[in-house]
Amino acid sequence: MISEQYKKFLSYVIYQVYPRSFNDTNGDGIGDINGVIEKLDYLKELGVNAIWLCPCYKSPNDDNGYDIADYRDIMDEFGTLDDVKRLISEMHKRDMKLIMDLVPNHTSSEHEWFKQSRMSKDNPYSDYYYWFDEPQNDWQSCFCGSAWEYDEQRGQYYLHSYAPSQPDLNWENPKVVKEIQDVVDFWVDLGVDGFRCDVIDQISKDWERNLNCFGPQLHDHIHALFGRDKVRHIFTVGECWAGDIDEIVRHSAYERGELSTLFQFDHLACGCTTKFRKKPESLKSVRDIIAKWQTLNQERDLIHALFTDNHDNGRFISRMGNDGELRYESATCLAAMFYLLRGVPFIYQGQEFGLTNSHHHSIDEFDDIESVNIYKYFCESMTPEEAIDKINFGSRDNPRRPMSWTAGKNGGFSDAEPWMPLHSRYKEINLETDRNSEKSVFNFYREILKIRRENDAILYGDFEVISKQEDGNFVFTRTYEGKRFIVICNFEDESEISVETSGKIILSNYGRDAVSGTYRPYEVAIIEE
Ligand code: NOJ
Repeated sequence: MISEQYKKFLSYVIYQVYPRSFNDTNGDGIGDINGVIEKLDYLKELGVNAIWLCPCYKSPNDDNGYDIADYRDIMDEFGTLDDVKRLISEMHKRDMKLIMDLVPNHTSSEHEWFKQSRMSKDNPYSDYYYWFDEPQNDWQSCFCGSAWEYDEQRGQYYLHSYAPSQPDLNWENPKVVKEIQDVVDFWVDLGVDGFRCDVIDQISKDWERNLNCFGPQLHDHIHALFGRDKVRHIFTVGECWAGDIDEIVRHSAYERGELSTLFQFDHLACGCTTKFRKKPESLKSVRDIIAKWQTLNQERDLIHALFTDNHDNGRFISRMGNDGELRYESATCLAAMFYLLRGVPFIYQGQEFGLTNSHHHSIDEFDDIESVNIYKYFCESMTPEEAIDKINFGSRDNPRRPMSWTAGKNGGFSDAEPWMPLHSRYKEINLETDRNSEKSVFNFYREILKIRRENDAILYGDFEVISKQEDGNFVFTRTYEGKRFIVICNFEDESEISVETSGKIILSNYGRDAVSGTYRPYEVAIIEE
């Protein structure tokens, strides 16, 4: 049984916009809110009905907006609050939803709260952050080095799980909980339809178990944010590393009033040992992981967040697919593997025309704090060439390069020189070229999303996997009220696939018309019975 609220969410198709690199309309080389508005009809045409907008708030940009200096105002380079209001209204006119990025775990050190907090031990903001006379443990920052920083002004150490300029908020202080509730309400009052919640599992620390996440108050805090009547209807997706289904239930079962869903990251660990170190691995592993979560989510009536790419990882197609000769086939195969499952699809900008990793020769061509710091660390034990190779593979700048809309000047992203070097393959892989090609990834995405939109069996149907573990393919069915779809994705070399059906093929990436037979690499067939 799927509740009405969940049915509503299952109809969402969310497109992730990284605003800095999406579309520049005022000629400063940096994307802006008006650039998002300008592309709404394009996104509608693709079949998207919601946008997750990465942070666009006032920020010194040490971590590209994940270091917020004012939760209620917009970064000058991106525009104004009025632009965001216009974005909301233009989206709502088109029946689209806006999901903002909420960053509750930390602020920028430029935030007024921190500026006040660091001034003394007895000011109204003194307990808004974690201050101690000594580091409390050996926690490491995600961007290299200790997570504890000494502050001369206050004469104490504070905790920063990310850069030193991103101090962690002290959620043990009820005033902090209230502040972030107010931030949520501010945006809901402006009309936003939901939030993607950055590292939400870190807002409660487990000091006893020496973990800077999953602390004892985590569920109370999330409930305090989203369980209130005022916001109970909005869509929320947590960035949260929950490892088992019971944990996921505790975060996102509807009756708990916490999150609508959360990103489950197991499949992103395929194809690498750590983020920057490649490991050859078959898509079979990805298939087994997503099939497992699909089944578990279905059994518990939970929503599965369906995604391959985001702003924090190298492009999935370059790691787990083929970003060379079979780029079209593998991009379309991944789309069928993920977006015909039950859940909410998330598409990251550029994915819809098969954008791959970008290759660069010098660290000067990178911007991301994580990549720059880890490069320095790598160079302590390897040559710069080896280090840059790893950065090219795993860098968060892969998906953050300015969008390649065309093969023309600045990739059609801006009239001015872009804020960071363009994607190395933009002349070959860009939306315009793709749409003019017979093998258009964009057109395939449109078809997939149309099938999804128009068929309850794809939106709500039961999932069942048919392929066996040893097979180099993923064959699954989606069934609802007597109607069934069969999806065949062959991802290894040629396979013989035979399926009992009287149905017809409604979409294929190789122009196939017979259901059974030899399937070529990354071949897809979608069958309606
Ligand atoms: C996760 C975000 O996705 C990432 O981009 C950011 O650097 C960290 N959280 C810190 O906010």
